Amino acid sequence: MRRSLLLPAGGLGYNTTGMENRVISPRVQPDERQLDQALRPQRLDDLIGQDRLRENLRILIEAARQRGDALDHVLFYGPPGLGKTTLAHIVANEMGVPIRVTAGPAIERAGDLAAILSNLREKEVLFIDEVHRLGRAVEEILYPAMEDFVLDLVVGKGPAARSIRLHLPRFTVVGATTRLALLTAPLRARFGATFRVDFYDQAALEAIVRRAAGVLGLEVDDEGVVEIARRGRGTPRVALRLLKRVRDYAQVRSDGRITGPVAREALELLEVDELGLDDLDRRVLRTIIEKFGGGPVGLDTIAAAVSEEADTVMDVVEPYLLQLGFLERTPRGRVATARAYEHLRIPYTRPEQPTLF
Ligand SMILES: Nc1ncnc2c1ncn2[C@@H]1O[C@H](COP(=O)(O)OP(=O)(O)O)[C@@H](O)[C@H]1O
Ligand SMILES: [Mg+2]
Repeated sequence: MRRSLLLPAGGLGYNTTGMENRVISPRVQPDERQLDQALRPQRLDDLIGQDRLRENLRILIEAARQRGDALDHVLFYGPPGLGKTTLAHIVANEMGVPIRVTAGPAIERAGDLAAILSNLREKEVLFIDEVHRLGRAVEEILYPAMEDFVLDLVVGKGPAARSIRLHLPRFTVVGATTRLALLTAPLRARFGATFRVDFYDQAALEAIVRRAAGVLGLEVDDEGVVEIARRGRGTPRVALRLLKRVRDYAQVRSDGRITGPVAREALELLEVDELGLDDLDRRVLRTIIEKFGGGPVGLDTIAAAVSEEADTVMDVVEPYLLQLGFLERTPRGRVATARAYEHLRIPYTRPEQPTLF
């Protein structure tokens, strides 16, 4: 099951076990790109939630604009579906510059990156998604490009080979990653500003659902909005997908209007519980509790027991369970908390863990 040894750090963007078809998956699904585009806020003022990040970013951008400079390189990190790609586009829009989009795994050779870099224009944004998955040789081209805006190229072969230095226009790298810890220290150091993108609270998710309903021309009442937002796992992409699925249900089983009861029925049918947990989340928790006495148990063991890849469990299942306080990460492995037992209606029988000093 676990093939990560053969894969680039961070594993494949998609796996083959079908779990990415989960309705609550925070990763983008291929048929969603167009909708993503339509619903994506374009400017900082349209961005809902992330208040501190938004204000810090506003100052950074405003200051660069006043000086007439290119923006410093910016890194966004956080779980999938929270708005990193959206933010990259907003940065370019606010700076009034074009954006070129690529991703770590897409840049295979140093030459690929050199070609991209040598075509950039002054102040342009180069968005590198999954920036933790850049290869070593590629990173080495990127360091001097980010720091000194130069590109060192070797031309010719054998004894005739010589190195030439190209000067690049001042440009801006916007990086995004779900795994800050996998970023190499030198690369991390070259970003002038690093922002963590957090899960959204209920009020922010409600506002996001309401705005999207407006864009899509849907009729949703307050209770419907609350029900969808509550199951959105603090993640805009999930909330928006649930909205779409509830819309389908309302259209087929009702008069198209999304009310509280309609939303609840639709979401129950999708087996998304009142906290937004689905079958895989519950299986992970049950595994820890029923097979491993509540933990601590290692990530790979859990992944094997639920037949998923460790990367998937770590990226897609754990962040939200941690956020809910259902799971704890300890040096010896994952532990299910009393809250998790309560949610699954399993009596909490674990003895108090001794505290180690
Ligand atoms: N703050 C926000 N306000 C409104 N919509 C948002 C916000 N953040 C994300 N979205 C929506 O959620 C979806 C996922 O965002 P995206 O930027 O692709 O996430 P990520 O790149 O972190 O996986 C997009 O369709 C976007 O429109
Ligand atoms: Mg993205």
